[in-house]
Amino acid sequence: MKKLKTHIYKVDEQTADEVWQAAGDILRKGGLVAFPTETVYGLGANALDEKASAKIYAAKGRPSDNPLIVHIADAHMMDTLARDIPDAAWKLADRFWPGPLTMILKKKAIVPDGTTGGLDTVAIRMPSHPAALKLIQVSGVCIAAPSANTSGRPSPTRAEHVMEDMDGKIDMILDGGEVGIGIESTIVDLTGDVPMILRPGYITKEMLSQAIGAVDTDPAILDENKDENFRPKAPGMKYKHYAPKGDLTLVEGPERKVVEKIRKLTADRLADGCRVGIIATQETQKDYDQGLVISIGSRHDEGEIIHNLYHILREMDRLQVDVIYSESFSEGARGQAIMNRLLKAAGHQVIYV
Ligand code: TXA
Ligand code: MG
Repeated sequence: MKKLKTHIYKVDEQTADEVWQAAGDILRKGGLVAFPTETVYGLGANALDEKASAKIYAAKGRPSDNPLIVHIADAHMMDTLARDIPDAAWKLADRFWPGPLTMILKKKAIVPDGTTGGLDTVAIRMPSHPAALKLIQVSGVCIAAPSANTSGRPSPTRAEHVMEDMDGKIDMILDGGEVGIGIESTIVDLTGDVPMILRPGYITKEMLSQAIGAVDTDPAILDENKDENFRPKAPGMKYKHYAPKGDLTLVEGPERKVVEKIRKLTADRLADGCRVGIIATQETQKDYDQGLVISIGSRHDEGEIIHNLYHILREMDRLQVDVIYSESFSEGARGQAIMNRLLKAAGHQVIYV
């Protein structure tokens, strides 16, 4: 692939019009612009231009059967992209958009197969980050955007993460600082009889149910179904993902036992000559006297854990650790969303104590 010059600009309320116009031009001409959303950074291209979305797959090294999410700035754009839209979709749009919710709907012919990985459905989201909304508006295009990381690496929550993975591969990065949430949107499929969560996220099943009644969760994404024959309905959920370079193992159980186990494992690995990283919490950080210890935040603040998760996985890469032990975080309302990412990062290696 030809190396591009990747231009990077800070974006906030003061950003000059020329920057927005340049970004819009790139998208209209079929190029790639990375931009902040409230969840993670996205790697954007014109969703209705098949050649443009093909460039996303090349830049990320992404398998071509893994469809992209189409970002819009006005809920009524759903009508342009999707058909047979159920009432529940309008209710969810009303309640949660702009925000971290992606809906799967039946696609109209205007959405090319290259954007949906050949599927008859399309994923649509209206983000709430002002820079994302502005980019969609000034470009005048619907923006197909996966997370702006190299396929398989942790999703980017800062512009530096995007630089690490995409420098020389895309035209522009809009730097909006750290994102607010830190994990990808909740995905809900509205094409069946009962709405189904395909990827857990910041918006929980309970929140969705309050708006539209019964909601299921794709059985393939629950940890008890590690069987290869369970194929997740969101193609992207089947890949090993978010993975740091070091070998990550989760330790799950009562806090004291978890700390004891990680201390023991760390001592053993150090004796083997490995560099060891530990993902601890504010509450337990002081209990580890060996290894490279990073606190993910307070166990009592789920938002903080979510916010720090991907950055810490990248930090572990920077520290060049060989093995990583992490505490587990399944208790809270968003425990399933956190553990879904961590389990995938760990290739499902868990020690129960
Ligand atoms: O928060 C987010 O959703 C971020 C930001 C940038 O908006 N985007 C994001 O995109 O996470 P990506 O490509 O990393 O993840 C999209 C997921 C994949 O698992 C993909 O398989 C699934 O959505 N997906 C997309 N279209 C689909 C469809 N028509 N049916 C089922 N799953 C779909
Ligand atoms: Mg992704």
